[in-house]
Amino acid sequence: MSNFDIMITRFDANPEFGQMVPEERKALYDLTIKNKCTKILEVGTWKGVGSTYILASAAKANGGHLYSIENDKANHDIAEDIYNTDLSFLKVYVCLILGDSTEKIKEISKEIQFDMVFLDGAEDGERTFNDFNLVKNDIKIVACHDWFTKKTEKIRPYLESSKDYEQISLIETSPTGFSAFKRVKRVKNENDITR
Ligand SMILES: C[S@@+](CC[C@H](N)C(=O)[O-])C[C@H]1O[C@@H](n2cnc3c(N)ncnc32)[C@H](O)[C@@H]1O
Repeated sequence: MSNFDIMITRFDANPEFGQMVPEERKALYDLTIKNKCTKILEVGTWKGVGSTYILASAAKANGGHLYSIENDKANHDIAEDIYNTDLSFLKVYVCLILGDSTEKIKEISKEIQFDMVFLDGAEDGERTFNDFNLVKNDIKIVACHDWFTKKTEKIRPYLESSKDYEQISLIETSPTGFSAFKRVKRVKNENDITR
């Protein structure tokens, strides 16, 4: 494992750091900071050094917290180990949750109103869309890795056609793509502003 810098967030393409390319990592970090997200939900921790590290770093910068769900115990345990050692400076900003995304989101969303969700779990378009629907009433930002794979085949047409979201990031040149959307405030009339 490469050394992490306590002060500087790295966006390297080291395969040990997960599958997102540096441009995607930087986009994810920047949009999380820019939109001041503080209650961040992630589906798909993997080993904790890819998007989880990026989102944990942004949560630290924003004074927020990341809740990251992983259903593979071996991956979850590797992530736990890393946040107890190399990434211990981020540990207080991260809650690593072992279990199925849909079940865990149902449980934790009773307690926490998430303002951002990052979806990078199963290659299952139905599940990705269902997980999003469980939190969509609260969130202002939704980001998705694998924008051109089966993982996002249901959420992609929904977000692209919805008048409730504007696309704030699109990376088409990476191997599997990345995109993010922001919930827009729609003005029905001048006295009635909805989320
Ligand atoms: C593409 S990897 C995530 C990569 C990670 N975001 C990164 O940047 O390094 C997808 C992860 O989702 C996990 N996963 C698959 N199905 C899941 C489910 N139903 N609930 C939670 N995690 C799941 C897999 O075990 C895998 O670790």
